[in-house]
Amino acid sequence: MVTAVTVRVPAKVNVQLAVGGRRADGFHDLANVFLAVGLYDHVTATPADRLTITAEGRDTASVPLDESNLAARAAIALARRHGVAPAVHLHIAKDIPVAGGMAGGSADGAAALLACDALWGTGTPLKELLEIAGELGSDVPFPLLGGAALGVGRGELLTPLEVAGTFHWVFAVADGGLSTPEVYRECDRLRREAGHGDGVADVPAPAADPALLAALAAGDAPALAAALTNDLQPAALALRPALADTLETGLGSGALAGIVSGSGPTVAFLVADADAAAKTASALGPSARVATAPAAGAAVLP
Ligand code: C5P
Repeated sequence: MVTAVTVRVPAKVNVQLAVGGRRADGFHDLANVFLAVGLYDHVTATPADRLTITAEGRDTASVPLDESNLAARAAIALARRHGVAPAVHLHIAKDIPVAGGMAGGSADGAAALLACDALWGTGTPLKELLEIAGELGSDVPFPLLGGAALGVGRGELLTPLEVAGTFHWVFAVADGGLSTPEVYRECDRLRREAGHGDGVADVPAPAADPALLAALAAGDAPALAAALTNDLQPAALALRPALADTLETGLGSGALAGIVSGSGPTVAFLVADADAAAKTASALGPSARVATAPAAGAAVLP
C-alpha cells in the first residue's frame, strides 16, 4: 500500500498575457503564454481520517488551511470523480511566492490532483486531470504540463508550445499579494476610462504573438525580451504604484526586460545569463529570487 506521495510542481510566468473583453460570465478571453519556471512547491499526500491541510515555508500565514485552498478543492473534485472519500492529509511545502502572480495556489491544486491520484491508485488519464484542473481555476491545468503552453478561453484550454534553450529570470517578490479579480476589475475600469469600453465587442480578440512564439522556440532571450507583454500590467501598476520603481531598478541593473507577472505584484526580469541574474538580484535586494526556465511539469517524486 502507498503510504505517502510527494509531488513537485513549478511556478509560472506569463510571457504574453493578452486580455480580451469581459464576457457575460465575468471572465475575460485570454491569449495567455505560460512559461514554467524553476521555483517549486512540494505537496505530500498521506492517508488520513478526513481531509486536512498543513503548510510550511515562506508566507504561509496567508495560505488558507481549509476547503478554500485549491489543493483541498482538487482532492475533493478528484475523489468525487472516482466515488471515493477525500480522506487525505495534504502537506504543502511552499517556495513559490504566495498571491504573487506566479500561480502558486494553482500549482498546489495541480500537485494535489497528481498526488491524490497516485495515493488512491485512481489512474486518471492526463486529459481528465486537465479537465478537472480547468474547472478548479484558469491557471490550474498549466502546471500539470510545464514547459511552455498557450492558454485560450479563460486561459485553461492549453496547447503545448515549443521551447528551446534556457531562459534566466529574476523575480522581485513584493510584500503582500494583489487580488486577481481586483486587477481584472481595474483593467476593465482603465479601459472604460480610456473610452474603449470593456466588453467582448469593444476589445480586440486576444491572439498569441508569432514573434514571441518564435523567440521561445529558438531559445532567443533578447527576442523574447522584446516581445514580452502583459495587458494586466497597467492595472497592477495603478493598484501598486511602487512596482514602477521595481521595474526601473531591475532594468537599471542591466536586465533585458521587465514585466509584471500575471496579475502581479511579482515583477519578472528576463536577463542574459546567470551572471546577469546575480547582478539584477543584488540590485533588487534580498527578496529577489533567481530561476531558470523552462521547468518540467508537476511530477511524483520517487
Ligand atoms: O480562474 P481563476 O479562479 O484563477 O480566476 C480568478 C478570478 O480572476 C476570476 O474570478 C475573475 O475575476 C478573474 N479572471 C478573469 N478572466 C480570466 C481568468 C480570471 O476575469 N480569464
